[in-house]
Amino acid sequence: MSEKSILITGGAGFIGSHVIKLFVEKYPNYKIYNLDALTYAGNLENLKSIEHKSNYHFIKGDINDESFIDSIFQKHKFDAVIHLAAESHVDRSITDPLAFVKTNVIGTMNLLNAFKTLWKDNFKDKLFYHISTDEVYGTLGKTGLFKEDTPYDPNSPYSASKASSDHFVRAYGETYGLPYIITNCSNNYGPNQFPEKLIPLFINNIIQNKALPVYGDGNYTRDWLYVIDHAIAIDLVFHEGLNHETYNIGGFNEWKNIELVELLCNLMDEKLNRTKGSSKRLITFVKDRPGHDLRYAIDASKIEKNLSWRPSVTFEEGLSSTIDWYLSNEEWLKNVTSGNYQNYYQKQYS
Ligand code: NAD
Ligand code: TYD
Repeated sequence: MSEKSILITGGAGFIGSHVIKLFVEKYPNYKIYNLDALTYAGNLENLKSIEHKSNYHFIKGDINDESFIDSIFQKHKFDAVIHLAAESHVDRSITDPLAFVKTNVIGTMNLLNAFKTLWKDNFKDKLFYHISTDEVYGTLGKTGLFKEDTPYDPNSPYSASKASSDHFVRAYGETYGLPYIITNCSNNYGPNQFPEKLIPLFINNIIQNKALPVYGDGNYTRDWLYVIDHAIAIDLVFHEGLNHETYNIGGFNEWKNIELVELLCNLMDEKLNRTKGSSKRLITFVKDRPGHDLRYAIDASKIEKNLSWRPSVTFEEGLSSTIDWYLSNEEWLKNVTSGNYQNYYQKQYS
């Protein structure tokens, strides 16, 4: 592999930390720069295993800070960007939409502008890889799948901000010839996910014998992908994906929330040696999320056919390793759920 200087944004977060670990271990010739503001969702503990590697560099900084972003591009001359930094939780976007516009839209614009300024005279062998979500397509009814050409129809401030950033990336490609790829992925789960999203929140609550707040009637459907399979897809797309293309990434794995929660409860009972059925008793149906998308499901046949990617683990395997990880990393859980998390939880669920 040739030498390359790669900026990965949001590398201290959930998906970003798995991408950083994969790239740092697999590509010793690449210089990997992790730019992260260390918001509530960023945690350098996630990167302990690679933090001393000579090809890894951490930069603490905010993608909203335009002059700072310009300065690091001028200094390090990044050949490529893999952009994951974002405000990522739908519920938080409902209470504070502007924060999502700032980071997800303006922050992305700052990166695009700095990248364009640096390479506009010669974009050869450069790449701006933007990580997005299937939520930009809005909601499906009971049937159908999101394809790469499904029209954007976002319903939450989170998905609207991601959709907007996707449009700007594509527009920079058309207008300025900026080389880009976008991937739109379904719901991820796995180790190191902040316990505000469904699966880690419910694992943490089961450990603590706390209520499991299922929104509405629980008949909402998501397509779940193990985070390491997403990181593998990102590696593949980064190296073999085509300029100006988008790829959908999904788990071939649809679950209704309530059925997923019941499976999780059964697995947790087994692993915690609790009486069968005891975790299920914690399920509590609560007020629905406003604008709640009924169903997401990805048609991942393009990446499967063109890049030979498929998820490597079944949902049962992935969920089981995820639970094992949380059970053996209670210190990590304790650290991220102290302080501000309690205020968030109180506001969101009281
Ligand atoms: P996350 O919330 O776990 O991590 C986000 C990271 O970005 C954190 O480390 C945070 O500190 C950093 N960050 C936030 N604002 C920043 C700013 N202004 N400047 C610099 N750094 C900042 O998110 P995640 O779940 O790992 O998602 C990563 C990306 O993948 C996001 O772009 C998200 O939209 C996308 N995505 C997520 C999922 C999912 O299921 N989690 C699915 C598809 C796509
Ligand atoms: P989430 O993990 O927030 O991901 P997203 O909204 O991006 O799909 O939620 C997954 C599903 O679980 C979604 O339908 C909302 C639901 N949900 C609950 O029922 N209760 C909760 O406490 C949370 C956080 C989510």
